[in-house]
Amino acid sequence: MDQKVATDILAKGSPAILSETAARPTLRFLTCGSVDDGKSTLIGRLLYEQQLIFDDQLAALERDSKKHGTAGPEIDFALLVDGLEAEREQGITIDVAYRYFSTRKRSFIVADTPGHEQYTRNMATGASNADLAILLVDARKGLLTQTHRHAAIVWLLGIKHVVLAVNKIDLVDYDQSVFENIVESFTAFAASFGFASVAAIPLSARYGENISERSDRTPWYKGAPLISYLEGVDVEDRRAALPFRMPVQWVNRPHLDFRGFSGTIASGTVRPGEKVIVSASGKISEIARIVTADGDLDSASAGDAVTLTLTDEIDISRGDLLAAPQARPAVADQFGAHIIWMGEQEMLPGRSYLMKAGARTLPVTITELKHRLDVDSLAQNAAKTLALNEVGFCNLATHVPVAFDPYSENPVTGSFILIDRYTNATVAAGLVAFALRRASNVHLQNLTVSKEARVQLKQHHPCVLWFTGLSGAGKSTIANVVEARLNSFGMHTILLDGDNVRHGLNKDLGFATADRVENIRRIGEVAKLMTDAGLIVLCSFISPFRAERRLVRETLPDGEFVEVFVDTPRETCIARDPKGLYKKALAGEIKNFTGVDQPYETPEAAELILGRDAETPEQASTKVLAYLAVRNLIPHFDELGDWAI
Ligand code: ADX
Repeated sequence: MDQKVATDILAKGSPAILSETAARPTLRFLTCGSVDDGKSTLIGRLLYEQQLIFDDQLAALERDSKKHGTAGPEIDFALLVDGLEAEREQGITIDVAYRYFSTRKRSFIVADTPGHEQYTRNMATGASNADLAILLVDARKGLLTQTHRHAAIVWLLGIKHVVLAVNKIDLVDYDQSVFENIVESFTAFAASFGFASVAAIPLSARYGENISERSDRTPWYKGAPLISYLEGVDVEDRRAALPFRMPVQWVNRPHLDFRGFSGTIASGTVRPGEKVIVSASGKISEIARIVTADGDLDSASAGDAVTLTLTDEIDISRGDLLAAPQARPAVADQFGAHIIWMGEQEMLPGRSYLMKAGARTLPVTITELKHRLDVDSLAQNAAKTLALNEVGFCNLATHVPVAFDPYSENPVTGSFILIDRYTNATVAAGLVAFALRRASNVHLQNLTVSKEARVQLKQHHPCVLWFTGLSGAGKSTIANVVEARLNSFGMHTILLDGDNVRHGLNKDLGFATADRVENIRRIGEVAKLMTDAGLIVLCSFISPFRAERRLVRETLPDGEFVEVFVDTPRETCIARDPKGLYKKALAGEIKNFTGVDQPYETPEAAELILGRDAETPEQASTKVLAYLAVRNLIPHFDELGDWAI
């Protein structure tokens, strides 16, 4: 029996029978469905039938059930599970996302994951190891879009065995035809998924019908009740048979004579004497020892937490992936992946997110959304963004090459999560499909004339002056004066302006969030090229989002990005309304207008703030020139003559 399961059950003092469970491997499964479908009730019922609920919990449950009156005189098992969830939210219980129980024949681990968490952390790590998924359907409602979505995600996750649990069969009078219609629709829908097994079971979690025993109310159902089915289903754990992979969680160096690499083996088996490769660098060494708290091991496999020592002193750091040299992972900085979007805010191609893959966290950009999956028709539709719970296929790019496997070959090293850089929330689960080779065929050309050589011909240092603020704040007016004055002093400049760029380079872009992200990304690239040419680049764009301003900042060397926040009060901008756009936006005639129905995210650490003191454009421009002079980006004014106005 799985060690962890045993200890967990013992720790919880459960009366479960442990002795006869050794025969079958532990079954890991997850339940998909909303609370309304009876997910909590089903899990509560499973635990109850296995007598895993303590007497005091049961007494409280009976009390609460009566109080809430949700289940008549019956016990409302959902209250039990929901109660546990409340505990988890308060952070009291650790790892309660997994519930453990066993019967005489088998041990079970249920990845019970409320709401969205189901798809994020647990799916990308724990639940991606699930052998089976129970898809809950409310018999009265039949298959919903949500059922389709869950089935598609289960398929993406590579889970081969599905139980279609047609719940609340009591509420349709145990009607065989209702059940059969649902099964028929599901079979047609899931035909292309290639599940190894689909077992449909009519049940009532609330009344315990077809849970432990076959129900008298459904004499027409000839299959096994749920628990017997789960006890008997054949699944194989492929992880140990896969090639060796271990992400290095940390480099363990307590003293000079010991250097070990600690982590949990993601897949495969290792023994001392075997060769391993550091995926990214391609360096090869040999395992010297497998060290654990309980002494050295002769071999270790998937799931074991170990410290490996090697025979050579090679460069390995946290986040590296150790692998079998004869079956290496892919190493690439561009790849295609299925994305399950979990963010409250839509996914935006062009935006930089953090990717957590194995023991590594690094910035990643979704370069292109190839398609969005319509979960009902399974059509692959063109789309610009993904909203909460949507599934799509994307190309992604990192700044440095990363090692990974296609998810279909290795669920652990082929999955990742995306994290929002500002909120730190997990916004997506990703499943890698393949490396994009095009990146490795495009090499940077070595140019004879360097940026430094170009800069030496100028009197100034190149930089980007990034004017941001609401429409009508005066960005372009101030930028225009700054440029005129720099020009009159002989500085080499260029001004990129929102309205102008949108007539040419970006004329394919509108004002929806995704378009604004792409607008700024392109302008950032252009601005960088122009600093390579040695110019002072003035950019005047609303650029309402912090993430993209930061992206541009990060593409430039330190000190070359000067964020100028033109913080004119919104009321002033509305009163000025130079193009009459506020009037239209406030009347609802223009959509997506910044400051009206789209947000403007205030800069957190702009180098310069203008517009607050009702200064003239000339006065504002002097502040900009003074800043440039102080930072030695342009010569000091005494060399240029008196430019203070
Ligand atoms: S950004 O948000 O993508 O940075 P950008 O600065 O390029 O915007 O373009 C803004 C200009 O487009 C505004 O000055 C205004 O003249 C015009 N415009 C037209 N429609 C909108 C809109 N819905 N929101 C903001 N600006 C708009």
